[in-house]
Amino acid sequence: MGGIFAVICKDTRIPRGAIYEGLRRLTYRGYDGAGVAFLRGDLLEVRKAPGHIENVSKNLDFVNIDSDIALGHTRYASRGWPVYENTHPLTECTRRVAVTGDGIIENYEEIKSRLEKLGHVFSSRTDTEVAVHLLEEYLKSTSSRVEALLRVIRELRGMYSLVFLDSSTRSLLVVQSGQPLVIGFSPDKSCIYVSSDLPSLYGFAETAYILEEGTVGVISRDSIDLYSSISGRRVELEQLQAKRVKYVTEYVEKGGFPHYMIKEIYEIPEALKKVPLAIMEKYLRLAAMIIQGAKKVFVIGTGTSLHAAMISTYYFSELAGLSVNVISAAEFPYSLLESVETGTVVVAVSQSGETTDVITSVKQAKLRGAVVVGITNNVGSRLALESNVYLPIGAGPEIAVPATKTFIATLAGFLMLSSYVGVYTGKLTSSEYGGILNSIKDLADKLKNLIPDYDSKIEKLAQEVYEYKNMYLAGSGITYPVALEGALKLKEAALVHAEGLQLGELRHGPLALSVLGLLTVLIEPIEEQAKQLFYKVLREVENRYARIFTLEVTANTKHAAIILPQVERHLYPMVAIIPLQLLAYHTGVVKGLPVDTPPGLAKTITT
Ligand code: F6R
Repeated sequence: MGGIFAVICKDTRIPRGAIYEGLRRLTYRGYDGAGVAFLRGDLLEVRKAPGHIENVSKNLDFVNIDSDIALGHTRYASRGWPVYENTHPLTECTRRVAVTGDGIIENYEEIKSRLEKLGHVFSSRTDTEVAVHLLEEYLKSTSSRVEALLRVIRELRGMYSLVFLDSSTRSLLVVQSGQPLVIGFSPDKSCIYVSSDLPSLYGFAETAYILEEGTVGVISRDSIDLYSSISGRRVELEQLQAKRVKYVTEYVEKGGFPHYMIKEIYEIPEALKKVPLAIMEKYLRLAAMIIQGAKKVFVIGTGTSLHAAMISTYYFSELAGLSVNVISAAEFPYSLLESVETGTVVVAVSQSGETTDVITSVKQAKLRGAVVVGITNNVGSRLALESNVYLPIGAGPEIAVPATKTFIATLAGFLMLSSYVGVYTGKLTSSEYGGILNSIKDLADKLKNLIPDYDSKIEKLAQEVYEYKNMYLAGSGITYPVALEGALKLKEAALVHAEGLQLGELRHGPLALSVLGLLTVLIEPIEEQAKQLFYKVLREVENRYARIFTLEVTANTKHAAIILPQVERHLYPMVAIIPLQLLAYHTGVVKGLPVDTPPGLAKTITT
């Protein structure tokens, strides 16, 4: 699993730095290893090592690949440890073909043992290696690459994509079986690029074609031959969906910040302002009409997107008078899916739009007659393609693995959607809806001043609390999901065991652990009725001599680390999460952790 980036050029060498830059942009898909295979003359050479591409390339030089064909990979170690042997590209027995893969091949063990009986020798513990030996086996009985690839895709089960570098035909062989692959041309058509996503092609290609699931193909310097394994027919490039490659380079540089995570926290005001510009009213109207007329509404997502989805229940209820069911997309197929029927709307949220749990749930829900409204930051993503209508949040690329600005932009997207539904249900007037839009813009201006202030306060606090190994974060009402999200950030960026709790629930057992070695962070609720509870819990935790700090609006206690601004309830999660994001960031930094790329994580779980 990981990111694939390959190039083949005609009458020219591949551009200097292209493979390095393409792979670097794909590290959100994995950074446990990086490698590149290319032809030196007619011989296949492989350079690879475990680790992040920026480190690997210091020794192996991925910038200067002197060839006209190269295949690169940045790996997320899902099958097999992050060691040299398991790093892609992987080769077959004759070392004439190399492969890189993304996704999971489910039946690799049975195929591997069959191939071993036929004499194939495996050098890795990955599932991807089985693909290159299988291709080698089929190429013994046919010289047609397409025929061999069709046999490979029909045999390998799972959701994956593969790109092979075939030295005998000097071509790239592609297989799209559920994981994304796109093809783009350099403006002068001298080079053809294959990648796992569109933005990585920025500066290399202007437009890219999105391969459909079930496609295999041979890409040589003069031609592209694509076939559908489903229809068995040839596929012309022009039949495929083409997208303009857009990427704003300023986002991929750190712009003077030491890490992407802190840069992206500082980008929150700008991201917030962009949401109302990114979501076009005609699509918002359509999505709102669909939701308003639905028999049932489910909201699904995972991780940070799930927490945003949880907050959306408060929005839909307060602003539209609508009750929606929220569930993790990883759990949906085993629970609520069976109640999906015609008239059901699934609102699917995924920053990347590539999370497989989301895509799988969406596909299954559609088969049962559901209509899908997608909310994503990635317009070229599978979620965008699978949705009946989708709303782009337009936050710009997020590079750090811990999601920050996209969480807040997603909330703004939900806010617009729920209040538009509110206009249809009669809960809001159009001018109230307009007021909510303006409040998003006003908040963005307010946050511009607040973030540097929070930042310096939390930086100091982190110096003091970084040694805590366990933390409780508790909120009530609309800040309960904020507590969950804060805890998730602390796990990812600071490697702290942090638990998000409801204030009331803290008193029903968890308080037992509230002793000196545990840090408790309490978020003052915005709901008047819950304020009493906040003070009650605070006193109970104080009585245990636990270390406490609070985020408060009214600054009534001595524990207040941050005073949050007075804002409307629906904006409160957006202001309350930022200090917690900063706490996770600074704690990780004090501990010397790689906050942008936490060990063992990838930005997007594409399997
Ligand atoms: C949190 C994080 C993950 C993602 C989750 C969903 O910081 O990075 O928990 O939120 O994997 O990702 P998307 O939103 O891309 O579907």
